[in-house]
Amino acid sequence: MKVSHATAGLVVWFVVLGCIDAVTLEVKESNTTCIKADLSASFSIIYNTTHAERTVQVLLPNSTTVDTANSTCGKDGSSPRLVAVFGSGYTLGLNFSTNGTLYQVSSLTLQYNLSDTSVFPNATISGVVTLVSASVGIEANVNTTYKCASPTVIAVATAKVNFTDMRLEAYMPGNELSPNETVCFADQTSTTPSPTTVSTTAVPTQTPPGTPQQGNYTVKDANDTICLLAKMGLQLNVSYTSQNKTVQDVLNLNPNVTNSTGSCGASSATLVLTQTQSTILTFNFTLNSTTNKYHLSGVTLIANWFDSAHFSMSNNSLNYLRSTLGYSYMCNAEQTLFVTPSFSLNTFDLKVQPFGVKSGRFATAEECQMDQNQMIIPIIVGAALAGLVLITLIAYLIGKRRSHAGYQAI
Ligand SMILES: *[C@@H]1O[C@H](CO)[C@@H](O)[C@H](O)[C@H]1NC(C)=O
Ligand SMILES: *[C@@H]1O[C@H](CO)[C@@H](O)[C@H](O)[C@H]1NC(C)=O
Ligand SMILES: *[C@@H]1O[C@H](CO)[C@@H](O)[C@H](O)[C@H]1NC(C)=O
Ligand SMILES: *[C@@H]1O[C@H](CO)[C@@H](O)[C@H](O)[C@H]1NC(C)=O
Ligand SMILES: *[C@@H]1O[C@H](CO)[C@@H](O)[C@H](O)[C@H]1NC(C)=O
Ligand SMILES: *[C@@H]1O[C@H](CO)[C@@H](O)[C@H](O)[C@H]1NC(C)=O
Ligand SMILES: *[C@@H]1O[C@H](CO)[C@@H](O)[C@H](O)[C@H]1NC(C)=O
Ligand SMILES: *[C@@H]1O[C@H](CO)[C@@H](O)[C@H](O)[C@H]1NC(C)=O
Ligand SMILES: *[C@@H]1O[C@H](CO)[C@@H](O)[C@H](O)[C@H]1NC(C)=O
Ligand SMILES: *[C@@H]1O[C@H](CO)[C@@H](O)[C@H](O)[C@H]1NC(C)=O
Ligand SMILES: *[C@@H]1O[C@H](CO)[C@@H](O)[C@H](O)[C@H]1NC(C)=O
Repeated sequence: MKVSHATAGLVVWFVVLGCIDAVTLEVKESNTTCIKADLSASFSIIYNTTHAERTVQVLLPNSTTVDTANSTCGKDGSSPRLVAVFGSGYTLGLNFSTNGTLYQVSSLTLQYNLSDTSVFPNATISGVVTLVSASVGIEANVNTTYKCASPTVIAVATAKVNFTDMRLEAYMPGNELSPNETVCFADQTSTTPSPTTVSTTAVPTQTPPGTPQQGNYTVKDANDTICLLAKMGLQLNVSYTSQNKTVQDVLNLNPNVTNSTGSCGASSATLVLTQTQSTILTFNFTLNSTTNKYHLSGVTLIANWFDSAHFSMSNNSLNYLRSTLGYSYMCNAEQTLFVTPSFSLNTFDLKVQPFGVKSGRFATAEECQMDQNQMIIPIIVGAALAGLVLITLIAYLIGKRRSHAGYQAI
């Protein structure tokens, strides 16, 4: 009963519309809190299906709780550990260590359940997978709260954990987060002073935004070689509920304040666009190695726009931007990609190549039908004009011959 309940919850937040308000997790021993964390997190997990590797995005749901049996304050000499559980067979673990002046997240563990077919359809193996990270890079002074509003992406073996709006403390001197903060590097260097200010500027205005500016995005592989190229103008069209009101918003992605990251695999590639910490748009591309055709198979939008608009929308069974390995895909005409009933994406001047990028350059493009149609119109007009000229010429020649014949008759 409990299991089926949790599974049902998982289906809802993953497939339809997950709410990603931060969750608060606490580890206590005999009434004293030793670890406290406010987290919003999403996980990008790669798994194998019969024909290809696929990437799915899983969100840390509101219903996440602390696994008290496996979490510890480390009083027995072990290192303090926070284990969060969600769904059936999913956990996120944070292990801490300290040297007296600094404390850090020494490693992350991620467990997910490949038997959960609602999240991992057609997985070739089943059961719970456990991944452990190498270094994490989350570090703060003792007796301060670690604070990071910027997205922090941490590799946990083949998966990635994306934290946003993180506040946490271990080795706590009291039961509440310390008022003194260690602010992460990304927040310090960000041009925008605080996430609240960011949010207000990122909030869409009511006026129609016009055509979005074309952005130039790349992804590099482990060898620092460009493995994915994308040039496009992007416009989000979303409807969501904020303070009990349904809001329909159309907003452009501003490439000047958008970063690109991602990953490249043999049969799946991911492009993650992050705009001012508040909008995260993920594109998943899949290559069918039998047919050598690739397509855009998934799109995820995670938005933290203002206090009342935190949401995510995702669809991993899309089939857009179809092209062939060795070619790029191009569409200059505006295209609308329907992702969910409440989220569509308008693309402008688009050119992408998620596989087979050589020397950081786009290969020859396969162009979308709409562009081809637009090229056909001038061809038809040209052909019609040429035909008209030909007919006039023939008519003239015939006329001339007739009049010639007339003269001869006299
Ligand atoms: C924890 O706190 C509660 C209420 O404040 C108190 O009744 C209980 O005795 C405390 N337990 C310990 C182990 O200190
Ligand atoms: C998928 O299968 C291939 C081939 O067996 C293997 O090399 C790869 O590590 C697998 N990927 C994952 C995420 O398990
Ligand atoms: C690849 O394409 C073939 C032919 O369309 C299809 O039968 C097969 O299922 C596809 N493989 C994957 C992994 O989608
Ligand atoms: C994994 O998922 C399957 C199917 O939903 C479920 O039966 C099983 O109990 C889950 N495993 C764990 C450890 O929760
Ligand atoms: C703890 O580690 C930091 C950074 O590695 C170092 O600067 C500091 O001196 C260390 N403190 C102690 C007490 O070892
Ligand atoms: C942290 O706070 C506790 C209790 O207030 C104090 O005993 C300890 O010395 C402090 N540690 C540091 C490194 O400031
Ligand atoms: C990185 O370079 C090494 C040596 O040139 C090569 O063996 C490896 O396959 C490359 N890795 C990627 C991801 O391209
Ligand atoms: C946004 O979506 C709504 C509902 O699907 C649609 O009526 C509207 O025309 C769209 N606007 C743009 C600019 O695409
Ligand atoms: C939203 O609606 C629910 C039920 O109608 C109500 O309880 C709640 O107070 C409303 N919230 C706001 C922010 O208006
Ligand atoms: C981005 O920066 C360029 C050059 O600084 C500027 O011309 C352009 O208007 C900016 N675009 C947006 C959408 O702010
Ligand atoms: C995902 O996209 C497919 C194909 O466009 C569509 O049939 C399906 O309804 C979408 N799923 C959701 C949850 O919107």
